[in-house]
Order: sequence, then structure tokens, then C-alpha cells
Amino acid sequence: MKLWQKTGSKIHPAVNKYIISKNLEADNALLPYDIQGSIAQANMLERIGILMPQERDDLIQGLNEILKAHKKGEFLIDQENEDVHTAIENYLVEKYGNTGKKIHTGRSRNDQVLTAQRLQSKDKIKETIEAAKKIAQTILKFSQAHEFVPMPGYTHTQIAMPSSVGQWSSSFVESLINDIHALEGVHKIIDQNPLGTAAGFGSMIPIDRNFTTKELEFSQIQINPIYAQNSRGKLEAFVLAGLMQVMLTLGKIAHDLVWFSSTEIKFFDINPALMTGSSIMPQKKNLDIMEVLRANVHVVQAHMFQVQSVGMNLISGYNKDLKIIKKPVLESFQITLDSLAITQILFENMQPNKERLLDSFDDSIFATDASHNLVLSGMSFRDAYQQIGENLDQVKAVDPLENIKSKTHIGSTGNLGLEKLQERLESVS
Ligand code: ARG
Repeated sequence: MKLWQKTGSKIHPAVNKYIISKNLEADNALLPYDIQGSIAQANMLERIGILMPQERDDLIQGLNEILKAHKKGEFLIDQENEDVHTAIENYLVEKYGNTGKKIHTGRSRNDQVLTAQRLQSKDKIKETIEAAKKIAQTILKFSQAHEFVPMPGYTHTQIAMPSSVGQWSSSFVESLINDIHALEGVHKIIDQNPLGTAAGFGSMIPIDRNFTTKELEFSQIQINPIYAQNSRGKLEAFVLAGLMQVMLTLGKIAHDLVWFSSTEIKFFDINPALMTGSSIMPQKKNLDIMEVLRANVHVVQAHMFQVQSVGMNLISGYNKDLKIIKKPVLESFQITLDSLAITQILFENMQPNKERLLDSFDDSIFATDASHNLVLSGMSFRDAYQQIGENLDQVKAVDPLENIKSKTHIGSTGNLGLEKLQERLESVS
């Protein structure tokens, strides 16, 4: 029975089918966080004298039972129960009668769902940060191992100047460090407790919001109850924007590696166990994992648009529209975590193919360096550029290794800045 259903009233089955059935999976994933919120609520209600200590203990025991059953896949939320909050309250009422009926004192499902989603997102952001740190460390190790292995640098998808495997791969380490900072910022924003704002206008019950804030380990209270409601969708948009940044970094890796592992280029030898084949062409070895990742960037982007767009143009306060954004948020976390994990595995199973990399160097790749050499012997840069441009056939190849090491990058020659990146990565909390 729905929490709002009046005795004897009936709900048309089409209503259940249209608005409830689609979201049960996302509600199921919220369950552990709703239990956490409800335990804090029970403790707070006892503290302010609404529950007797024994009643609180009973409710907490019931909530823990639900959690246990959920972990075994035995606590199912059905359409009759509408959502996770209803399923939990109905269980408590069925088991503890009048005591169960007290758990909802001073709260609404509106702040309840906000609290559960906030706790879930905080958890998952932390997990994403950990996974991003781990892959950044793996890529940095890869960069250190192949720091000065020559590799062409590209502009306009055309060979431009000498670069190295270390320089290419460590670009993603710096990118990930920025993404981690963005996620930390998102974590800071969402780390506010909405519990107790009720339907969006507070309540007459003298609840202790500071207590639940501490219990639930939020770093601050969400102050304005109307904003608490309006922040649904808005804070999720921050979350999606943070995840999107991670996906953009991984997507760039995917673009590069699909291109670099093409038959013509093959700059990297990749463990065949990570490649897939064709049902008709026996020779094919494809890097499907990076193609799927590339596509997944668009899926997360679509989710981000969905979340931003459902949340806009709604009047202040709770609107049921917001219910549908649980799924894209959850899916985006899963896609991002899976994408970090597969990219991590790829870097652990990939080696530069030094021969192919060197083969790609022709004399013209040194043209810019040739003009800079003229500058070093006193010519103006524009004259040097013209002179080399008119005599490209005379540009001579030099030792690529020496060339790469002679470049200035972070203020001193031959320094790709890997130690600095290591320091930065270690300083990410
Ligand atoms: N399951 C609901 C949701 O996700 C909980 C809030 C219900 N509130 C309401 N006013 N109907 O939005």
C-alpha cells in the first residue's frame, strides 16, 4: 500500500505501470543509503523524546534486518510499494505496529530521497576519485618506463614534431589530476544534509538537524528547505559534470589508442587477450574496448543533458519529474567506474613498439627544430622559418632521442616534468 493511499481508495494499474515500474532498480540501489538515513532519523527521534529507547532499538533492528535481506537479494520493492521509502516503512509498520508508524515523524519522502541520493553520490564520488588516482599512478609508471621512447607528436592528425611516449602518456596523468580536483569540488558541494527539510518547508516537530548531520557524516547542513528541494537535479548536474570530465579524459585516450593501434600505425603492442576479432575476417584484431569507451562518453554526456534539462523549468519545490534522474546518475557512475577499470587494464597490458614509432619519423619532423637552431645562431625566428620552409628537402634528421632530451618543457632541458606530476598526484588527498 502507498503511504499516501487512503483506506479503501483504488489506484488504476496503468498508473503503477507508467510511473513506478521503471524506477525500481534505481530505488533498490538506494536502499542501503535510505537505511543509513532512517537509522539516523530513529536515533534523532529518540533523542528528542518522540521514540522511547526500546522503540528506537526495535526500529534499528528492523532496519538492519532489511539491509541484510537486501544484501541477499531477498528484500524486493514491488509496484505496490511504490518506492524504497515506502517498502521500508511498510516493513517496519508490519513488524512493529505503532512504533513503525513513528519513523516518518518530521520527515517527508522528499527530504528522505534527497538524503539517500546525497549519501549514495558521496560514496560513489569517493570510489571514482580512488579509481582515478589508481589509473593516474599506473599511467605515470608507464610514462616513467618509456619516458624518452621517441614518438611523433601530431597536430591536425598530421605528424608535427618529435615527442615521446612519456610525454604523450603523462598528458593524461595531468588531465586526471584536474578531473580529481573537479570531483573533490563536487564532493564538497554535495556534502550537505537535507534531512529534516521535510516536504520543502520544514515541520512543527522540534527535530535536531545538527544531530543527523553529524550522524550521517555530512560536513554541513543544507539550510533553506525550498533550496533543498530545488537542489535535486541541480546537485546531480554537478555530479554528472564531474563524471563527464573523467570521461572526456578517458575518451581522449580511447581516440588516440584506436588510431595508434590501426594496422598502418601500430605504435603499441597490446596483449591479444584485450583484442577482439571478426566473425568473417580471420586476421582481424580490434580494440573494441576503446571504441565502446569512446561511445560511452556520449552516453554519459546524454545523461548529463537529461539531468540538467529535467531539472530546469520546474517551479520551486518538489516535482515528480525529478524522480527519473536517479537512473542516469547511477548509470553514469557505473560507466565511469567501468571505463576507468578497463583503461587501467589496458595500460598494464600495453608496450610501445619502438620500431614502428621510429619508422614514423621522417626528416621533415625536425623542421621546426631546424629553424630554432638557426635562431640559436642569431637569426630572427621569422627569417629562420622562411629559410627552412623554402628548403624543406634539406632538413636533416638528427638523433630523435637527443632531440627530445634537448627540449625545454618545464624550465629546464630534458625534463618532461614526471617528478612534478608524481608530487602533484601524491598531494591529491
Ligand atoms: N520516490 C519519490 C521520488 O523519487 C520520493 C518522493 C516522493 N514525494 C512525493 N511528493 N510524491 O521522488
